[in-house]
Amino acid sequence: MSEREKILSPSILAADFARLGEQIKEAVEAGAEYIHIDVMDGVFVPSISFGMPVIRTIRKVTDKVFDVHLMIVEPERYVKVFKECGADSITFHLEATEDADETIDLIRSVGCRVGMSIKPRTPVEAVRKYLHKLDMLLVMTVEPGFGGQKYIPESTERVRQVRQMADEMGLDLDIQVDGGITVDNARIVMEAGANVIVAGSAVFGGDITANVKHYLAQF
Ligand code: DX5
Ligand code: ZN
Repeated sequence: MSEREKILSPSILAADFARLGEQIKEAVEAGAEYIHIDVMDGVFVPSISFGMPVIRTIRKVTDKVFDVHLMIVEPERYVKVFKECGADSITFHLEATEDADETIDLIRSVGCRVGMSIKPRTPVEAVRKYLHKLDMLLVMTVEPGFGGQKYIPESTERVRQVRQMADEMGLDLDIQVDGGITVDNARIVMEAGANVIVAGSAVFGGDITANVKHYLAQF
């Protein structure tokens, strides 16, 4: 396995929203470095999650990296406001924008780390021309839209291909995986080249501290 730093980014989509602040604190105290924040608009994906007011509120709870995953159409319309709400890293979907270069530049210009994501059926080749401008590439390992789905096994090979592409280009790229990542398959995706691990139900669906520690034990 490579020397690249491994990071756990618990997805609050699976948290108990009545106790959101408390649960984020618990995940952070157990060792999570990022907090993964799934924003869904009911258009790019069927479901609607939450938006600016929630992010602004939980910003008061921790200084850890807010890893905002935008599952929304025309993400460029909202980059500035998500930055103002407290995003440190903004990931948009290649499939959701007409001008990915412009979106990348915009995220960079507001001072956030830049992430791009692809859905399971988007060819990995599609990201090649953008990779050098990104801090992170998110390879979705389920169809975006809902937590608690099963990992798509073909994702492992896709992660491997993106890591190979990045290595060939000499890039220091974070590769994130999101969807159905459990303590049991985390090692497989890390061996394929992923280093930022998102986990929702596997962290918040039970003993948060114990779950976070199980992931970290594998890093
Ligand atoms: C899915 C979201 C994920 C989701 C992951 O569209 O992007 O971040 O919350 O949840 P689990 O880990 O439960 O699959
Ligand atoms: Zn996500």
